[in-house]
Amino acid sequence: MSDPTLTPAWQTLTLAGASIAPIRELIDQNRSEFRSNLGEIEVDFTRQRIDASVWNTLKELVVERKVADRRDQMCAGVHVNQTEDRAVLHSALRLPRDSQLVVDGVDIVEAVHSVLERMSVLAERVRNGDWRGFTGKRIESVVNIGIGGSDLGPAMAHQALRAFTQPNIAFFFVSNVDPADLVETLKRCNPETTLFIIASKTFTTAETMSNAQQARDWVHKAVTSQDLEPVVSRHFVALSTNEREVSNFGIDAANMFEFWDWVGGRYSMESAIGLSTMIAIGPRQFGELLNGFRQADVNFQNEPWETNIAMQMGALAVWNRDFLGINTTAVLPYAQYLERFPAYLQQLTMESNGKNVRSDGESVSYDTGAIYWGEAGTNGQHSFYQLLHQGTNTVSCDIIVVARARHDLGDQQDMLVANALAQASVLSLGMDASEVADSGVPAELVPHKVMPGNRPVTVIMCPELNPFVLGMLVALYENCVFVQGAIWGINSFDQWGVELGKQVAMGISEAFELPSLAANFDQSTAASINRYLNLRDQG
Ligand code: F6P
Repeated sequence: MSDPTLTPAWQTLTLAGASIAPIRELIDQNRSEFRSNLGEIEVDFTRQRIDASVWNTLKELVVERKVADRRDQMCAGVHVNQTEDRAVLHSALRLPRDSQLVVDGVDIVEAVHSVLERMSVLAERVRNGDWRGFTGKRIESVVNIGIGGSDLGPAMAHQALRAFTQPNIAFFFVSNVDPADLVETLKRCNPETTLFIIASKTFTTAETMSNAQQARDWVHKAVTSQDLEPVVSRHFVALSTNEREVSNFGIDAANMFEFWDWVGGRYSMESAIGLSTMIAIGPRQFGELLNGFRQADVNFQNEPWETNIAMQMGALAVWNRDFLGINTTAVLPYAQYLERFPAYLQQLTMESNGKNVRSDGESVSYDTGAIYWGEAGTNGQHSFYQLLHQGTNTVSCDIIVVARARHDLGDQQDMLVANALAQASVLSLGMDASEVADSGVPAELVPHKVMPGNRPVTVIMCPELNPFVLGMLVALYENCVFVQGAIWGINSFDQWGVELGKQVAMGISEAFELPSLAANFDQSTAASINRYLNLRDQG
């Protein structure tokens, strides 16, 4: 995990970053090598600020950083997450039944598929009404209680695949410990017909356990004559790696769907954590989702640089971050169904690559993970695009287009895609002062209307949005995140940075119970604790 800045490719790229032409000077050259296909998804890098020489040097960087070797180690089960001494095998979640992978003495494929089969049985029973609540009624609401990776993937997939979803079941996702989240959800549910999925890898996450306990109390209150235990077994299932805590909560092993410590939370949406997705779209379509993941993996694991889209996309992200100084990427899906995709990617990218220490423990002397955020187009255009176009920060943009709409509503789909392509053009090319003046703009307004352009854009064009395409898209980003981390030499699979806040929150909670403990904190925190207690107790 040596320093990437010492490689010849890094040094060449540093010089190239200082002298590369603006995108508008590059765009009309032959750039077909910057456009690739992943199945039916076209990934178009032609609006990136790159030329053939940069492209070739990025390829060299990937070789010099041994990214392919690291990828192979990861997929073979080497403990590449060395700070937690764990394998990283989300790629095994989508291996077909007839493949073979034994890691640490465990037949991984057998383990994965036996859980998938149990999930399928439950999903079908809920979908066809065979699974009944404590008063004998069929399930009408499914509430996934989880946070982070135990929420964002399933919530995103539910929104993305609404068109494929069982219509007579409502799906809800409760993540926040803010009581408003659970209370507002429960207002829309009936305890007799609600199935709670408690999703937590560790089964110790404070927010999730608190929401799960409140949900259990809510069901309990509705029960007049039965024991809680049989009621819990009809209304609660668990998705976790922690059988002991699941059982302590009162959920039977038969209602626990297992995954493993080699599946990171943010890489878990197609593991047992996908149970709500499977209930929503059915086991067959869930299988298509897995096939999509697999297709992207096959490309990532087998193709050379020229056709390896995740390698290219990951290396380009490093180019933008370290050599063009771009510290943020906007993810702009021109598809309402992908509204939650930016939020999902925030955890995937930033929890993975927001690191300032390399795997060898040395501090980095270069930039790592960019800030990812975004919003569905065209809503974002009427909100923050002003800054994208004329602000003083350069933001690189991933514009995601879905060509075939699921709904035929006048010319709306054409309007949507026209906007996507217009933004890709304007962001990358801009309009200079003479062009603005030539278009008849009064001289005093010209500076206000100049569009700097030169914002690197990737256009990802999907044929339509279905489970297979969604699987490809998610796995493409997962693999792209890996490539970035491998080039930077960081561990993309731990998340120590989130721990301290959890510990301090526990201490503050104790001070809410025993206010004298506020004095143990710094003055600002102590004052805030006291102010909160005053306001809380006035209510
Ligand atoms: O605190 C961060 C985190 O550990 C994420 O990595 C994870 O996805 C989330 O919390 C939820 O964890 P769990 O699934 O164990 O409840």
